[in-house]
Amino acid sequence: MRDLDRSSNPGSKTAADETALNQQLLSWYDRNARTMPWRVSPADRARGQRPDPYRVWLSEVMLQQTTVAAVTDYFQRFTQRWPSVLDLAAAEDAQVMAEWAGLGYYARARNLLKCARVVAQDLEGDFPDSYDALLKLPGIGPYTAAAVASIAFDRRETVLDGNVERVMSRLHDIHDPLPAVKPLLKDHAGLLTPELRPGDYAQAVMDLGATICTPKNPACGICPWRAPCLARVAGTAPELPKKTPKQPKPTRLGLTYLARSADGAWLLERRPDKGLLGGMLGWPGSEWNEAPVPRAPFEADWQDLGGEVRHTFTHFHLILQVKLAELPAGYNLTPGQELLSRHAFRPQDLPTVMRKAFDLWAGSDFNPGQD
Ligand code: ADE
Repeated sequence: MRDLDRSSNPGSKTAADETALNQQLLSWYDRNARTMPWRVSPADRARGQRPDPYRVWLSEVMLQQTTVAAVTDYFQRFTQRWPSVLDLAAAEDAQVMAEWAGLGYYARARNLLKCARVVAQDLEGDFPDSYDALLKLPGIGPYTAAAVASIAFDRRETVLDGNVERVMSRLHDIHDPLPAVKPLLKDHAGLLTPELRPGDYAQAVMDLGATICTPKNPACGICPWRAPCLARVAGTAPELPKKTPKQPKPTRLGLTYLARSADGAWLLERRPDKGLLGGMLGWPGSEWNEAPVPRAPFEADWQDLGGEVRHTFTHFHLILQVKLAELPAGYNLTPGQELLSRHAFRPQDLPTVMRKAFDLWAGSDFNPGQD
């Protein structure tokens, strides 16, 4: 492992080296920054334009575990509907959960609302401008606090996401595996972060990782850090960063029940706030485990839709069998259940696994709209 103590490591970089490195990267960013709806371009920043902290925060929460391509449409819809943190704080929970549907990791959406309400009620709608104060807000962890402090407020904080980890492990040719090596990579990233333009710098490393220093086939020939990159010299860039192998994911099974009234309304359930898909709408169903016990919402001749839904969560694969029955007239809703008319029901408001169950029905012979 390479250590960071310059006195004991004569080959290590000096402060002058670091200044040269981050200037090379910033000048690359000035020419190559990606355009994103929440981003202020380096040219506009140089003219004094500041990013809106609400938009930076919202984008960074959405971007956790999610790609820029997947986030962009969600971000546009959120900011059209709720242009400021005060608007978001005043939104209904169910509306926000529905807009978030499909992005996954739903705890993010619940914390998003909590955070917006704290900022609105306790801070007069102004996000705090320091890492420590941001870290105290609901749903803001070390990554998001550093990203918002740096990008929105130009604080010299170290932003370490998967892109930055890859870039640092290659620049320094570090072969120790993730996740244990994260603190070392963060130290390297911190040493390189400049006093001037730390926000642009953070975004520059992320853009470099996303566009040039890519996981496969890195474009070393056009990289602004081609010369100093130790992994390029050693020919090891494509195999870095090393990762400790993950445990294989178990497979769980489940039964899901689609109940539709004669006039096309659907029976749904709001899932409890805590736990997987917390706060989201879904179909009634069994537990998800190795041998699920059937748990239909009412007695009926439940038909199997045929086929199955497969979905992968962070910690397990899921295979769902999907059953269908007509909802009896006069059915009494139990707590948590909602009956959505054919007009009120929007499959896009469901989390992806529930949407897949609906799609199975929509493409089946049981759908009267299907030829
Ligand atoms: N990934 C997460 N945040 C990002 C940002 N601000 N710019 C580019 N990629 C990102």
